[in-house]
Amino acid sequence: VNEWRVEPAAPEDLEPILELERCCFEWPWGRLSVEGEMGCPDSTGFVVKRGSPESKHRVIAFIFFRFIAGEVHIFRIAVAPEWRRRGIGSALVARCLESARRRGVLSASLEVRASNVEAAALYAKHGFRVAARRPGYYSDNREDALILNRDIKEEENP
Ligand SMILES: CC(C)(COP(=O)(O)OP(=O)(O)OC[C@H]1O[C@@H](n2cnc3c(N)ncnc32)[C@H](O)[C@@H]1OP(=O)(O)O)[C@@H](O)C(=O)NCCC(=O)NCCS
Repeated sequence: VNEWRVEPAAPEDLEPILELERCCFEWPWGRLSVEGEMGCPDSTGFVVKRGSPESKHRVIAFIFFRFIAGEVHIFRIAVAPEWRRRGIGSALVARCLESARRRGVLSASLEVRASNVEAAALYAKHGFRVAARRPGYYSDNREDALILNRDIKEEENP
C-alpha cells in the first residue's frame, strides 16, 4: 500500500500548507499569498497526504504551478523535512509536467534561489537546465535567481 497519495489542493488544505510554508522556507509565504494562489484561476495546486481518506490524514507536501503565456511555471513546491528523499517532490513535478502535457503545453519554467542545492538537484533530475541568472532577483536577501526551463515532449512518459 502506498503510504502517501497526491490529490488536488482543496480549501481545507490552507492551514496545513501554511504550516509547511513556515517549516520549509526561510522566507515563507503568508496567508494572503497562499490564499491568493489557491484562488487564482490560472493556478493549479496539488497536495500529498498520508493516511487513508477515512482516517485522520496529514498534508506532507504541496506544489503550485500556473499556466502562463503558453508555458507551465512552477511557483512553489515543498515537502515536509521528515518526508524528503522518498520521491515525493519528484511525484509532484511529474504531476505538473503531466498536467501541462495534457493541455498541450510543451514548455516548463521556474525560478530558484541560487543557494538552493536540494531544489536545483530535484529539477536537474527532471531535465531542467539553467537558462539564465538574474542577479539580486529576491528582494528579501538580494540573492540571485536561476531561471530553469525544459521542453515537455508529447509522447514522454510521466
Ligand atoms: C526541493 C524539495 C521539494 C525536494 O523534495 P524531495 O521529496 O526530497 O525530492 P525527491 O525525493 O523526489 O528527490 C528527487 C531528487 O532530487 C535530488 N535531491 C533532493 N534533495 C536533495 C539533497 N538534499 N541533496 C542532493 N540531492 C537532492 C536527488 O537527485 C533526488 O533523487 P534521489 O533521492 O534519487 O537521489 C525539498 O527538499 C524541499 O521541500 N525543500 C524546501 C522547499 C524548497 O526549497 N522548495 C523549492 C523552491 S520553491
